[in-house]
Amino acid sequence: MAVEFSEAAKQEFSEILTHYPTKEAAMLPVLHLAKREFGHVSTEIMAYISELLELNVTRIANVVSFYTLFPGTPEGKYVIQVCSTLSCQLMGAETVVDHVKKKLNIEVSETTPDKKFTLKKVECLGSCGTAPVMQINDTYYEQLTVEKIDKILDSLK
Ligand code: FES
Repeated sequence: MAVEFSEAAKQEFSEILTHYPTKEAAMLPVLHLAKREFGHVSTEIMAYISELLELNVTRIANVVSFYTLFPGTPEGKYVIQVCSTLSCQLMGAETVVDHVKKKLNIEVSETTPDKKFTLKKVECLGSCGTAPVMQINDTYYEQLTVEKIDKILDSLK
């Protein structure tokens, strides 16, 4: 079956368009809407959005590939992003990554078989003073230790 927004998402799409002077200018909020609606932004979803926004699909693909926010395949319910930039590296980011990998039994860029967790390494999350840092969905977790990671992940299981 072809990709299509739900009725609620169609209404939200129409509402988004009222805030922008052109359909192209609304691309990012529409991509966020698509990610919320479908959980990812696949090639098929990009084609659907290109029709809605009356834009070449290549234009959409260029934007999608620029941001890590729009995965091409479905991710877990909780997306764990561990910062791997300098301050976090110096403060133990690799220990954080290794511990999460071991605890969830997955590698970076993988999702647990129950579709609950996806692990990613990302660039600076903008909280360098409280390194090491990870973000799970919209929540930041700072000054991480192995004990803190255990508590956080256990609370989400
Ligand atoms: S280096 Fe990790 S938050 Fe900036």
